[in-house]
Amino acid sequence: MRRRVAILISGRGSNMTALIEGARAYDFPAEISVVVSNKANAAGVAKARAAGIPVEIVESRPFGKDRAAFEKALQIVLDQRSIDLVCLAGFMRLFTPEFVQRWHGRMLNIHPSLLPSFPGLDPHGQALKAGVKVSGATVHFVTPDTDAGPIVIQGVVAVKDDDTAETLSARILAVEHRIYPAAVRLVADMRVRIDGDRCVTEGAVAPDTIMIAPGA
Ligand code: GRF
Repeated sequence: MRRRVAILISGRGSNMTALIEGARAYDFPAEISVVVSNKANAAGVAKARAAGIPVEIVESRPFGKDRAAFEKALQIVLDQRSIDLVCLAGFMRLFTPEFVQRWHGRMLNIHPSLLPSFPGLDPHGQALKAGVKVSGATVHFVTPDTDAGPIVIQGVVAVKDDDTAETLSARILAVEHRIYPAAVRLVADMRVRIDGDRCVTEGAVAPDTIMIAPGA
């Protein structure tokens, strides 16, 4: 049976779209059962509706700092839809440790850096400031710490000397759109086991590729 996925968004929803499109593959082991936005006017809401995916709006603003109350409202939606897996895709709201614990091993996030480098805000700016020559994106299970948790999959791009946060972000976004559906496929196929702080992937093939940046 296909695993039932909820995608949580707050913004433009490009990763959401990549997941919706990925899940259309005939052999995809999960279905996108609902998109939940904590902002009614998020651009991703219209995109999800246009794609024919049920949308639920659970506004976070009325709950103010009462995160637990917001999560209760969210949990009701997830229960109603019998959700197996939650995918955070540009969801700009922190969870309580209790909520994270409840979804332990069943909640994924994507972050546009090679974690554990550059967690938090402005990861592209952080990468440029640090002068790293490669960066990328990470899909990981969610733990109480922000942008931490066992890593499911990563993808890498070269960082160029003349990159700005915008150009680097665009190149990394293309990686994000590939790795998020791939991560959900691995997790929904039950090929990913959490072993302490890391993930072990059954039948994983490590590409025998070296990328050197800058090139000669
Ligand atoms: C992405 O860069 C994602 O990695 C980060 O927030 C951004 C969301 O973009 N967590 P989108 O809404 O998926 O287009």
